[in-house]
Amino acid sequence: MAAHADALMTTDEITEVVDLLRSAGKIADDTTFRRVSPAHPKPSQNGAAADRLIEAWTYTASDKRIDEFVVSLTDQSIVSEQAVYGQVPQYGFGEVAQSIEAVRASPLVAEALAKRGITELAKVQVDPWPTGDMGEAHEDGRRVTRGVLFWRDDEMDNGYAKPIDGVVAFVDLDLMEVYQVDDIGEWPVPTETNNYHHGTVEDRTDLTTIDITQPDGPSFTVTDGNHIKWANWDVRAVMDHTEGLALQSLAWTDGVTRRPIMRRASVAEMVVPYGETRATQAFKNALDIGEIGLGRTANSLALGCDCLGDITYLDSAWCFDDGTPVEVSQAICIHEEDFGILWKHSDSPTGTSDVRRSRRLVISSIFTVGNYDYGIFWYLYLDGTIQLEVKLTGIVTTQAYKDGDSLAYATRIGQEIAAPIHQHLFCGRFDMEVDGTNNTAYRVDVEVDPPGPDNPYDNAFRAVPTKLETESAAIDVVDAAKARTWRVVNEGVTNNLGQPTGYKLLPADTATLFPAQARIGGRAGFAKQNMWITPSNPTERFPAGDHVTQSKPDGRGLPEWTKADRNIADTDLVVWHVFGLTHSARPEDFPVMPTEYARCTWVPFGFFDRNPALDIPPGSACH
Ligand code: NI
Repeated sequence: MAAHADALMTTDEITEVVDLLRSAGKIADDTTFRRVSPAHPKPSQNGAAADRLIEAWTYTASDKRIDEFVVSLTDQSIVSEQAVYGQVPQYGFGEVAQSIEAVRASPLVAEALAKRGITELAKVQVDPWPTGDMGEAHEDGRRVTRGVLFWRDDEMDNGYAKPIDGVVAFVDLDLMEVYQVDDIGEWPVPTETNNYHHGTVEDRTDLTTIDITQPDGPSFTVTDGNHIKWANWDVRAVMDHTEGLALQSLAWTDGVTRRPIMRRASVAEMVVPYGETRATQAFKNALDIGEIGLGRTANSLALGCDCLGDITYLDSAWCFDDGTPVEVSQAICIHEEDFGILWKHSDSPTGTSDVRRSRRLVISSIFTVGNYDYGIFWYLYLDGTIQLEVKLTGIVTTQAYKDGDSLAYATRIGQEIAAPIHQHLFCGRFDMEVDGTNNTAYRVDVEVDPPGPDNPYDNAFRAVPTKLETESAAIDVVDAAKARTWRVVNEGVTNNLGQPTGYKLLPADTATLFPAQARIGGRAGFAKQNMWITPSNPTERFPAGDHVTQSKPDGRGLPEWTKADRNIADTDLVVWHVFGLTHSARPEDFPVMPTEYARCTWVPFGFFDRNPALDIPPGSACH
C-alpha cells in the first residue's frame, strides 16, 4: 500500500520512482536525477485519501533537456510529464564533487597557482560556487561552476583563513574540465592560522552542567512516520528535496474539531547577494535553495549537541544524481523547550500571583551549503503562535586583504583577510487555510488622526486594515514606522464576538534586495519586496522560478505571475514573505560565526474567543 500523501519520503520510495521511470524508458544513459520529492498536498478532499505523488525532475545532457515527471505510487503510473528546454537544471551533487577534482587537475589552474608559488594541489581547497549570471558570453550554452580557492597547510585547517585570492576557475560541467581561469591580480596568501575545532583554545571550566529532563516523557506523539500531535497542534513534518524542512497540514484541534491553518509552510527560496565589487566576489549571488537543494544537504543530528532534551528524530531520504537513494539518519529533530513565561499577573488587592510557563514544540533541521550552515526551525506555542526561524552560522566568505585595499564593501576580520557585506533573504511560503480554503488578506497600518473635533486630545491613532483584493495591491515592504502587519482571515467563519477568524503575520525588520539594479535583481525579483500574495496555483511554488541555476534576469517567478493581477480576496491564497538579514561581517564572526537569527511569526487574531492558554496548569512549585 502506498504511503500517506503527506508522508516523509523513504529510500524505498525513491527506488520505486526511479525503477518506474527506467522501466517506462524515460531514463537515457546520460540522464541524471535533479529533484525527487513528494508533490505538494492538494486541498483536503472530503477526507478521501489522496494519492501518493512524487515529483521527479531529470536532466538529459545530450538534449540539454529537463523532464518534470509526477509519479503516482498509489497506482504505479506516470501521472504527468513535461519537457523543458532552454533552462539549466539544479546542480547535481555528483557533478559538483567532480568539478572539485577537475579544478585540481587543470593545467590552467596549476599555472595560476605556480605564479603564487603553490605547487601542492592536494592542499588547495576548492569551493565550487554557482556561477549565477553575470552576462558573460563564454557561459552561454554551458553549465558552469566557478571554483574559488583556499589553502590548507593541514587538512583540518580552516581554509577560509587563507583565501588564494585573484583566481577563479570556470568548470564546464558537461565536459567536466576547466575551460578558463580568470586571474585578476595577486594577493599574498594569508599566513595566519585561524582554527575553531575543539582543542584550538583551552576549554573554560566554570560552566556547570545543564540537563533537560522529562521524567514522564515528552508530551507529543509521532505516528505514521511524521504525523505529530502536541497539545492542540496537529501537523506533518516533511523534507522537500529543494526547500528542506517544511510543515504540511498544520491545524489546531479542539476536542473533536480540527481547524486547519496552513496547508503547507516552507522556505521556498533564498538569495545571498554580495556587495563587494572585486570580481572574485561580485559574481556571488547564491540561490541556495533552487541551485543546490537544501533537502539533500540536511545534517545527521546528534543528541545532546544539535538538540538537547527528550528528542524524537526522523530520517530523511534524497536521490543522488544516478538514482541511488541516500538516507540521512536523524535529519529532523522534534522536541519541547521551556520558553520562559507564557502569562502572568500579580493581583495587588489579594497579594496573589498567577504565572504559567510557556513551552514550545520545536521541529528543526540543519543544512550545510559550502561555508554556511542554515537551521530551519519551526516553533509551535501553546497560545496558538507559529514561528519560523532561520538560524545562520558557519563561516563567512572571505577575501584576502593587503595594505591599500578598499574596505568600502568589506570588513577586516583578520590581519590579512576581510569579509564582504552580503544579504541572506529568505522567502517564506505560506499556503494558508485558516478555517478552510477561502481566505482574505488585509494589510494593517497604524495611522495617526489629524487634529480636529473627533480628536480633541490630539492622541488618536488607530490600526487601519486595508482589504487586499488583487495581487498588485498586496505587493509591499515591511514598514516599521507604520507598525505594519498583515492579517489573513476567513470571512465565512466567525468567533463568538462575530469577528472573522484569522492569523496575523508579525514581520521582523528586513531590508529588501539592495543590488536590485544588478542582474540578480531580475533573477531574484521576489526579494525586491517583503510581501506578495497570490491565489494558490500548483505550478507556482518557487518564487524565482523552478530552474534558477544560471537563470537570466527576466523577472521570472513572483514578478511575472503577479502581472496577471489576479483576485486574491475570498480565495485559496498563498502568502510569500521575504525576511532575513543584511550581514555586515564583524571580527567576531570569525573563525566561525555565532548564530544569527532571522524570523517571522504568525499569531492568532480572533482565531480564538480569548486567550486559549488558560488551561495550562501552574508548575507544581507554584500552586
Ligand atoms: Ni552572512
